[in-house]
Amino acid sequence: MSVKITMIGTGYVGLVTGACFAEIGHQVICVDKDAKKIEKLHQGVMPIYEPGLDELVMRNVKNGRLTFSTDVQASTKGRDAIFLCVGTPPHPETGAADLKYVYAAVEEVASGLDGFAVIVTKSTVPVGTNRRVFEIASKHANSKDFVAVASNPEFLREGAAITDFMEPDRVVVGVENDRASMLMRAIYEPIVTASIPFLQTSIESAEVIKYAANGFLAIKLSFINEVSDLCEAVGANVSDVAKGIGLDKRIGLPFLHVGPGWGGSCFPKDSMALYKTAQDFGVTMRLIESAIVANDERKLCMADRIKQYCGGSLQGKRIAVLGLTFKGQTDDMRESPSLVIIPQLQREGATVCAFDPSYPEGIDEMLPGVSVSKTPEDFCTNADALVIMTDWREFRSYDYKHFAESMKNKLAIDLRNLLDEKSMIAAGFEAYHRLGE
Ligand code: UDX
Repeated sequence: MSVKITMIGTGYVGLVTGACFAEIGHQVICVDKDAKKIEKLHQGVMPIYEPGLDELVMRNVKNGRLTFSTDVQASTKGRDAIFLCVGTPPHPETGAADLKYVYAAVEEVASGLDGFAVIVTKSTVPVGTNRRVFEIASKHANSKDFVAVASNPEFLREGAAITDFMEPDRVVVGVENDRASMLMRAIYEPIVTASIPFLQTSIESAEVIKYAANGFLAIKLSFINEVSDLCEAVGANVSDVAKGIGLDKRIGLPFLHVGPGWGGSCFPKDSMALYKTAQDFGVTMRLIESAIVANDERKLCMADRIKQYCGGSLQGKRIAVLGLTFKGQTDDMRESPSLVIIPQLQREGATVCAFDPSYPEGIDEMLPGVSVSKTPEDFCTNADALVIMTDWREFRSYDYKHFAESMKNKLAIDLRNLLDEKSMIAAGFEAYHRLGE
């Protein structure tokens, strides 16, 4: 059954999900207030970097199942489901999710409804928000019978979002209205199978599932990063330890790769929002608080580690940083460890040069004083150290012999354990350091 769907917001979540909904046979309108973004989409220019997204969008624009608009109300009339995919940025002081965009979208959508529709919150929102969405929508809709709500959290990783949509581990839907439940099942029917369950639950449970999932993953990452420090102290190998524990099915191998700290648009925001929600309800949640603190401290520890490897001082040193984004295969700089580590290196007197394959938009404003090259060839000329900051797959095939020849001091510090000592020494580096070994 083809469902008429409208996506409000064409960012990482809204555009990918809308294009995937069209791909599985639904009629989709993606709406955004940013006319420039919609104009670019009409020209086939993607507003975000996501592998495979351009082909997916263009294929579904061509087959007529995907269209774009800036007009919210015109795009909600006669629709079966409206997905809210607007931003919920953390409040700068409190860290709590700012819901002004969600509530503004609800008012505009509800007042445009001319029949029954389910308003689905895809954006990550604090527990209780969907109840509030229902109250606001019911108040602004021409009839109370027009509105039902559902919580349908996303589990998309940037750089793997299309795969994560098409082959999810599960579909989670918090819904209590039968008609809305049937619609949500129809929407996901093309991807739900025996191995991809459709988990229907209460609205609050679906809201908690999203935060608890990201919170647990953040704790798992902070845990392996701390185990990495212990491995260094006792002479163990964190890669072997990660494999040794990850082969236990109760733990699992994914998300046990050591790094300079976790970032992105979700883990930092969602872990803080989870902690704030617990506080608001008078519930103590120490583990997520500790994971956040450990992660923040780790980034500064990485800067100190670079200083130690450079002989205890960065004064007058030139540090070449390979990778700036919060992880490989994305152009997203949100909460990237580089935004903490590089300024610390500069404060210690270092000059920093860098290269990132995505050449993130606005990078000069985000990292003032850093000379960011557009190509990797000569970015580390005369450098005293090469720091691998991000796990871009293509870094594995770079010409490290050329890098070593161009550097003043043949020192490499791999904060992602991406490369290996044997090949780096063979390439001409005199010292190559990894984490947790
Ligand atoms: C995350 C969740 O994975 C996804 O389910 C949710 O919908 C959105 O948030 P994303 O933020 O795109 O996705 O990044 P992810 O791939 O999860 O990585 C998060 C951070 O953890 C990155 O900084 C990454 O570098 C780091 N990471 C991840 C590690 O340091 N080690 C790992 O083994 C995995």
